[in-house]
Amino acid sequence: MKPVIGIVMGSDSDLSVMQKAAKTLDDFGVPYEMTIISAHRTPDKMIEYTRSAKERGLKVLIAGAGWAAALPGMIAALTTLPVIGVPLHSKYFGGQDALYSIVMTPPGVPVATVAIDGAANAALLAMKILAVSDEALSEKLAAYSDQMRASVEKKAEKLEEIKYEAYLAQK
Ligand code: RP5
Repeated sequence: MKPVIGIVMGSDSDLSVMQKAAKTLDDFGVPYEMTIISAHRTPDKMIEYTRSAKERGLKVLIAGAGWAAALPGMIAALTTLPVIGVPLHSKYFGGQDALYSIVMTPPGVPVATVAIDGAANAALLAMKILAVSDEALSEKLAAYSDQMRASVEKKAEKLEEIKYEAYLAQK
């Protein structure tokens, strides 16, 4: 199946987090492609990749980056495709450097920014965008939400029944 989502990240050191986006898409059977592009280290590749993304059939781009995370905003500047940014945790500022870099793009260049290391949510949001015109995917996402709700309700019932000490002891 042709990829409809592009996952890009600034470095292979981002992969341990960004794999969560890939795994989430795998769970839903949504085809994607994944590569490493750095706004600072490989700017030409960033331009080539992003400029050709739409004609290659991609519909949403997920971009993860840490430190002075320019990649998601720069990609958003180069395409009309929706871009979801994933700020990645780093040892110096805990990912807040990347969060602010990604979320504070200037007016006219929106990046839908998820939580620090929120790669799974980035994939879910990307699928929600696709699901606007894909009823089968919309139903799968609804089933996922139902499962999540049932799981939380089960936990609540158990806590109400056995009280907190026993609950924690079993955790
Ligand atoms: C960013 O710099 C990358 O997204 C990565 O999070 C960070 C550090 O990269 P490496 O030095 O680990 O390659 O561009």
